[in-house]
Amino acid sequence: MKRIGVLTSGGDAPGMNACIRAVVRAGLAHGIETVGIRRGYTGLLKCDTEFLTSRSVGGIARWGGTVLETARCPEFRTADGQRKGVDNIRDLGLDGLIVIGGDGSLRGALALHQAGVPCVGVPASIDNDICGTETSIGVDTAMNTILDAIDKIKDTASAHRRAFVIEVMGRRSGYLAVATGVAGGAEMVIVPERPQSTDDIIREMLQASERGKPHFIIIVAEGATPRASEICDTLATARPGFEARLTVLGHVQRGGSPSAADRLLATKLGAGAVEALIGGRSGVMIGIQAGQPVSFPLEQVLSEERPAEEELLRLEEMIAL
Ligand code: ADP
Ligand code: F6P
Repeated sequence: MKRIGVLTSGGDAPGMNACIRAVVRAGLAHGIETVGIRRGYTGLLKCDTEFLTSRSVGGIARWGGTVLETARCPEFRTADGQRKGVDNIRDLGLDGLIVIGGDGSLRGALALHQAGVPCVGVPASIDNDICGTETSIGVDTAMNTILDAIDKIKDTASAHRRAFVIEVMGRRSGYLAVATGVAGGAEMVIVPERPQSTDDIIREMLQASERGKPHFIIIVAEGATPRASEICDTLATARPGFEARLTVLGHVQRGGSPSAADRLLATKLGAGAVEALIGGRSGVMIGIQAGQPVSFPLEQVLSEERPAEEELLRLEEMIAL
């Protein structure tokens, strides 16, 4: 193995640059050069590449986003697009490819493996919706960004004795909502895995108001039922003891300098992916279990749905009094 490619794909995640750096440096340590492919599978289909040297990746671990940029590439979901990708990998003289991204990107990595390309995936998505790994690159940083917002909103919520409905990302996963709800001391969390009724919400708010709570914070995952905006509309007419306001955190959650935890995770997984390729493994994802990089077959990782965080949901209900 003399030359490998690396790309970042799908939703960007803080820590992707630390992972790119680890791939390049680990490759060089094993006598392997790395070609950076820009803009995910879009760049693969266009052969939009650059050689990455040790100096190319110096100092990038602290940057959010991805120096290789990323994209969503519908063409690569097609057989023709994948065939083109395989041809380009051959034309670029790549002996293997590392894909850094979420579950969609990892499906692309599996398709390349099935087409005969040595390919290893690294989980990078703030959603934390990928099986086979305790967490993914970007999750810790996104949680800290959300927590900072919750702490700031609590100040103004208490000043006005208001309720705040805060919408967080996560696509179809409720992990960010429940994890930051517990850590941030929210009164309620609404997640896709456990739909609620607005009547339940109103009842909880009335009881909290009667208990003299100075505010009422509801963290709502973007894929939940009811949606944050619907909850706010209902509260506007129901007037359940608190005047309500809506805050949608949006793409703020995807930015920022990666936390120490994400930089460490990204470095472990990036180096682990290089060593997996060198060891002849393909069609696997390098995840983290008990602090150690482990490889899981992509087919297994992508065939399972990450379960709801039952223990965090139980804690949320028990402690948010
Ligand atoms: P993420 O990787 O963050 O989940 P997406 O779901 O948008 O983001 O996937 C990123 C890219 O991965 C898509 O734009 C597409 O190019 C590729 N991709 C997604 N699903 C598949 C699939 N089933 N087969 C092949 N490529 C896929
Ligand atoms: O998958 C990461 C994510 O941030 C999701 O939480 C969110 O729903 C989606 O990406 C937003 O995608 P885009 O950046 O393309 O709007």
